[in-house]
Amino acid sequence: MSTCRSQICNPKLGLDDWIDPKVTLSIRQEMQKMILDNETLKVISALLLDNIERGLKKDTHPKSIVKCFPTYVQDLPDGTEKGKFLALDLGGTNFRVLLVELDGTNCNIESKIFAVPLDIMTGPGERLFDHIAECLAQFAFEQGVMDIRLPLGFTWSFPLIQKGLTVGIAERWTKGFSCSGVIGNDVVQLLNEAIARRGDIKIDVCAILNDTTGTLMSCAYRNPDTRVGLILGTGTNGCYVEKQKNAEMFDEPDMGSGNVIINMEMGAFGDDGCLDFIRTDIDLAVDAQCINAGRQLHEKLISGMYLGEMVRYYILKFINRGLLFGGKGADLFSKQESFSTKEMTQVEMDSPGSYKIIREILTKIGLTDVSDEDCINVRFICECVSRRAAHLAAVVLVTVMHKMGEKRVVVGIDGSVYKYHPHVRRYMIQKIRELLDPSIKFDLMLSEDGSGIGAALVAAVAARKRREMQ
Ligand code: BGC
Repeated sequence: MSTCRSQICNPKLGLDDWIDPKVTLSIRQEMQKMILDNETLKVISALLLDNIERGLKKDTHPKSIVKCFPTYVQDLPDGTEKGKFLALDLGGTNFRVLLVELDGTNCNIESKIFAVPLDIMTGPGERLFDHIAECLAQFAFEQGVMDIRLPLGFTWSFPLIQKGLTVGIAERWTKGFSCSGVIGNDVVQLLNEAIARRGDIKIDVCAILNDTTGTLMSCAYRNPDTRVGLILGTGTNGCYVEKQKNAEMFDEPDMGSGNVIINMEMGAFGDDGCLDFIRTDIDLAVDAQCINAGRQLHEKLISGMYLGEMVRYYILKFINRGLLFGGKGADLFSKQESFSTKEMTQVEMDSPGSYKIIREILTKIGLTDVSDEDCINVRFICECVSRRAAHLAAVVLVTVMHKMGEKRVVVGIDGSVYKYHPHVRRYMIQKIRELLDPSIKFDLMLSEDGSGIGAALVAAVAARKRREMQ
């Protein structure tokens, strides 16, 4: 390759055709640890499989890191689900209340978003549940369903030990939440108590579920081959349909399907140090500033809450070494969250050779003298961060698909990183193709409002099952 520049031909750095040859050599070298080759990804897959097995088995579950909680959801929708349901969706900085109407083929949704202010996210649990109950009452009033006792599905997007379809013990907080008095308690009971304190709304909690389960269910409603649910949003997690005989923590009689959905909670993967060999100094820095430092380490490599921060730390590091913006502007990147995952997503929207959006973003942040080379380097940093996240997410899917052994699998996916990033889906598909047994056919399906429709569907399927058993 006579035209290739020295950094691209450097045998230590490898030949990656996606990397702009104009990226500064030292930046390229420093970012190398973020570029995971397929051999490394296969090692991670083997580690994850081992973690999943340990979570599923009775003997090893208590000490397991990837908990693989049984969800008590055993049946997928069959398309006959009908009725009106309320749904609550708590899992990020926003909280949503929904009224979902299923008619067998379609669903109609009315919903309202409420903010969860920081002081509620980190205050006493009672305040959080009072806030939820207040939002629910306000919404029920606006929708004119205040006096009807509607079935409700509660999407709780945090680790949850389920003891039944309507009993869920909060196991830990993630994503910046840390309300006191919740961990170790049944969140359905906490919700019912908050509703009783108000005394003005009637509900019947029919199901508590994780957002991954909701995502799987909402996609299964549209495509019966759906077997996996994945969230790539503020946080990350996955669930899949496991054979009941392998789910040793699920001590229930076989109700017919022989399966149960497993909520992997694989965001905790690596919390025992097994992923330390891929973590960079920047990963350590991002983790160290979190209220849950040392925990959810896999999630911190992948999800929206952390990607922008990673980019910020790299930019800061390269400014301080005089490799970006002529060594100026460190103050603009020194504040936590001064560069967001949304901005990282936008940086990657420019077409190759164009620096329009990148320049706009950098100018908005306050940089005045941005060269084309700066733009190329900033885009490269963003690409390294988002590609690694996508490849690690791809590894999760490959691992689970190999484990399930089905020949055709649809994966339902939701979450802002997957939905809004211009290339994450493509990066994932490409990597899955490289790593997956070629006899398995897969499809990635965007879930339309999985947490809302999924909650209604879990409640509806449970109601159908109850009818069938009577
Ligand atoms: C939580 C999971 C959730 C995921 C996506 C993680 O932080 O532990 O329960 O599914 O975020 O919302």
